[in-house]
Amino acid sequence: MSTRTASLEIVPSGKALGADVRGLDISRGISEETFQEILEAWYRHLVLRFRDQDITDQQLVEFALRFGSLHHAAGSEYGGKPEELHEAVELISNIVKNGKPIGALAAGEATWHTDMSMYEVPASATLLYGDEIPPSGGNTRFTNLCLAYDELDEELRSLVEGRRSIHDAAYLASGGVRPGYEAVTDKSQGPGARHPVVRTHPHSRRKALYLGRMGNGYIEGLSVEESDRVLEQLWAHMTQPRFIWEQEWRKGDLIVWDNRCVAHSRGAFDPEARRLMRRVTVMDA
Ligand code: SIN
Repeated sequence: MSTRTASLEIVPSGKALGADVRGLDISRGISEETFQEILEAWYRHLVLRFRDQDITDQQLVEFALRFGSLHHAAGSEYGGKPEELHEAVELISNIVKNGKPIGALAAGEATWHTDMSMYEVPASATLLYGDEIPPSGGNTRFTNLCLAYDELDEELRSLVEGRRSIHDAAYLASGGVRPGYEAVTDKSQGPGARHPVVRTHPHSRRKALYLGRMGNGYIEGLSVEESDRVLEQLWAHMTQPRFIWEQEWRKGDLIVWDNRCVAHSRGAFDPEARRLMRRVTVMDA
């Protein structure tokens, strides 16, 4: 059921997470009161969608700054981002210019992950804006990790509670080895930040599973085989359809998700079609 705040209409997706925010033109700026309403809706629904937006890089960055300090992505995994881009804006795209990709992830499947979790200071919010959308495919799926935690069976929950895992830095969401890294031979010694497997959201106080990336993780204190087995069970649990909402992109959609309690994946699309998104990530500090 949709709700009305003082200035907005919030329309839930009807799935485990996600809601549309209506009645807002982000290019016109947002009052502090309206931003508080947005934050409340975001804590409740974990992923918000603002449709029919027409925003510049600067307006996207200004909106993102309301959520916190910004990561500056260099785009090293695809050879560096275009020089004219704002330092906080990165392109997610399969478009190639002068023989060089202009953005990350190309056109293949991107497996389940949360953004920037391989760093000591990972991402809280990610903002992703759709400039060019392929005729089919390239949907982004989101899974609710609070609900997944709530519904975890007792045995698995007591096994992972209080443990940390390695959030692998060696591999990209598209599957390949990240430039500057080597393939990992012993997961228990791999590169990447160590974070709690169960984390408490700083605002909603809800507990959520927090694993970073599907594949190549490692839960400290377990044998590599045991860790692989537990991680496989956790990912299978977390990605059940009942926890998921899928975004079918339209040009002008802006999505804001909360990496502290949401994982996402991206479907493949026709490499001959163009997909161009602008992304900004906020530091979890
Ligand atoms: C991402 O994984 O951050 C991008 C998702 C998408 O391209 O839809």
